[in-house]
Amino acid sequence: MRPPVAELHLHLEGTLEPAFIIETASKHGIELPWRSLEHLEAQYDFTDLQSFLDLLYVNLEVLRDEDDFAEVTRRYLVRAAAAGVRHAEIFFDVQAHTRRGIPAETVVRGIRSALDRSVADHGMTTKLIMSFWRDLPAEDAMGALTHVLGAGLPIDGIGLDSAEVGYPPSLFVEVYRMARDAGLHVVAHAGEEGPAEYVWEALDLLHVERVDHGIRSLEDPELVERLVRERVPLTVCPLSNVRLRTVETMAEHPLPRMLELGLLVSLNSDDPAYFGGYLDANFDAVVAEFGLDARAVEQLARNSIDSAFLEPDERARLH
Ligand code: HPA
Ligand code: ZN
Repeated sequence: MRPPVAELHLHLEGTLEPAFIIETASKHGIELPWRSLEHLEAQYDFTDLQSFLDLLYVNLEVLRDEDDFAEVTRRYLVRAAAAGVRHAEIFFDVQAHTRRGIPAETVVRGIRSALDRSVADHGMTTKLIMSFWRDLPAEDAMGALTHVLGAGLPIDGIGLDSAEVGYPPSLFVEVYRMARDAGLHVVAHAGEEGPAEYVWEALDLLHVERVDHGIRSLEDPELVERLVRERVPLTVCPLSNVRLRTVETMAEHPLPRMLELGLLVSLNSDDPAYFGGYLDANFDAVVAEFGLDARAVEQLARNSIDSAFLEPDERARLH
């Protein structure tokens, strides 16, 4: 049995399984570019982050009504509970939906209706993090945040994702200031495909509490020293990194080095329906590749709890 674990880097849109995509398209009479389930399943061979995002952004268009958002959330919670997840912090990409005319209200209410049952159904606490596409103008993110805050929609934090290179954190200083002023938690993807410099910016300009991915931080010893000293959590996603060719093979994944250096790393599934598995599969993959012992697995699990946005009593319950 694995110790209690938190999942902190999980894109809800990345949990749409191929069968669900086909079913939901058919429910709404949506014509996808895929002729069949097999045709869709043949699309999952990625060369980089962008090639994956291209597929992700087509498929998520099947999400139309509140019930779709509730259903995809319910399915994730069931699967995560089976993987041993006791606390989940879930991203959704607001602009992926609002740009298609789906109101943020529909998205948040649908997701929340499922999250509201997760303690009762699975003993799992949750947080909801609204992410912005960094390859859209910061004004667009600002508009979405202003709307969601004004409407009083219940989110716990903001994040930053999508195509990284060429879209540095410095573009989003105002958005993050507004979020922090509103009492929201703040995280950002940085150092996945982008350079260590983006991790510095995320820390110094956006004042993020956690860095998503962050694996390219290892290229900068001074940055590593700071991340260790300040115990900045890094949410690492091994299967994602291999499938998006951020690292060439699992054997070359920097996870063991990150642990050795004393970085506060946790394991996460990122977009499990696209990258070959949920959190349990990520644990299994690194245990198999690196022969991690029970102590290292416990350390990773403990790190995830320490990296979560939990109150002290909730944290104590999971330790
Ligand atoms: N990186 C950037 N954007 C994303 C990712 C990711 O790993 N997953 C979903 N959107
Ligand atoms: Zn991600």
